[in-house]
Formats: sequence, structure tokens, C-alpha cells
Amino acid sequence: MRIIITKDYDELSKKAAEIIIGIVKNKPTAVLGLATGTTPLGLYGELKADRDKNGTDYSKVRAVNLDEYAGLGADNKNSYAHFMRENLFNGLNIDLKNTYIENGAAADGAAECKRYDALLESLPRDIQLLGIGSNGHIAFNEPGTPFGATTHTVELAASTVKDNSRLFDSIDDVPRKAYTMGLKSIMQSRSILVLATGANKAEAVKNLVNGKITEDVPASVLQLHPDCTLICDSAAAALL
Ligand code: PGA
Repeated sequence: MRIIITKDYDELSKKAAEIIIGIVKNKPTAVLGLATGTTPLGLYGELKADRDKNGTDYSKVRAVNLDEYAGLGADNKNSYAHFMRENLFNGLNIDLKNTYIENGAAADGAAECKRYDALLESLPRDIQLLGIGSNGHIAFNEPGTPFGATTHTVELAASTVKDNSRLFDSIDDVPRKAYTMGLKSIMQSRSILVLATGANKAEAVKNLVNGKITEDVPASVLQLHPDCTLICDSAAAALL
């Protein structure tokens, strides 16, 4: 695993943007695996600023997202589909038809997971961006998720519901279930970029880099990926 420690979040976001912009410039038809959460917001700001300033072209880029809350349709303001439009896609010249995410409003969850797996098979990713949960989850793959998992429905861990409640009006509004890309599908991306910021991620980062490879820490599977880069700020790197 390549590890880059930055002095702060701003530098982390800039370094991550350099990597994504490099891929898009090199391969205008790149497939980007994207993530939600607060961690990538700085990176997304950098990508939009670069698009404005340098005109980097996303017209042929495809974007595939990791996860979505079950029960929230794409127009719900707390859905991840909405998050991606608001925080990234609306600021790029990406064709929204080339952006993919699980359908939170699907009536049949099992069928939706199958549909998403077939889509992932047809769109091999050049890079998969990841945040990391304070409990070591990646996407919504909570501790105990089998490394062989493909897209599936998850019951969110209590710690995840609490962590994510800051983005909702009340903790009671946070959905208890979600659809998530599985660890097997994440590992199939050609390269992986993990971002971690802040002291509350330090333990998870330690386990990601130096911990035992175990399903108790979903992120630890990334130690087995041949092309994984971790960018973390000094607070998140404090226990390395
Ligand atoms: P965060 O979430 O970026 O909002 O901290 C990361 C995650 O839970 O994967």
C-alpha cells in the first residue's frame, strides 16, 4: 500500500484531485468509482475548480457509486444520488446518464443488488475512491461482512447510524438499511484510493495499514490489493 501523509485536509484533497484528474486526462473514457461522505468533499471541490479553470473533460467519463440508503429515492435530499449531483456532478460536464448508483427506491432489493452487480461487471473501474468508517467499514460493508460479498443489502451498524446522523435533521430520520457494493467488487477495481481525515479515523487507519487482515475490519482487505493508495492527514495518521 502506498501511503501519503499530508499536513492537513486541504493538502489531502489537492493530492487526491491530482490523482483523479491524471486518470481522466490520460483516459477520457475512464470509469471512476466514487464515494459519498464528508471526506471527499474537499476533493470534489478541487475537481470542480479544476474543471472551471482548466476545462478537464468529463463528457465521456462514467461514474459508479458505492452505496445508497434503502428507501430513499434519487430525489430525496438525503439520498446519495442527490449528494453526488449537488456536490460533484453539477459542477462537471459529466453526462448524468453515465452516472450509476443503486436505486434506493427499488421495490425488490434482491433484484436491485443483482442489477448492480451486472452493471459493475460491464463497467470495470479504473479507480475506486473510498472513505473509511471509524469502525473500519468501507462503503457500507460493516465489520463481519464476508470478503467475498458482492452488492447486498445491509443493516447499518449503530455507530454508522450515529456517525451519519449529522447529515440528517434527526437521528430517527437515518435509514437503518442500505445497498452497498461488496468487498469483492471493491477489490476488482484496477486501483483504489482511500482518504482519511481527522483523529476519529486514526484507529481505523492503523488497522487498515498494520492490523490483521480480518473480516472484523473490512478495510483490512485492502492490504491485499496490488494498487492501493492511502492519503491521510497527520491527525488520521497519528497511530501509524
Ligand atoms: P465520512 O464517512 O467521509 O463522512 O467520514 C466515511 C465512511 O463512513 O466511509
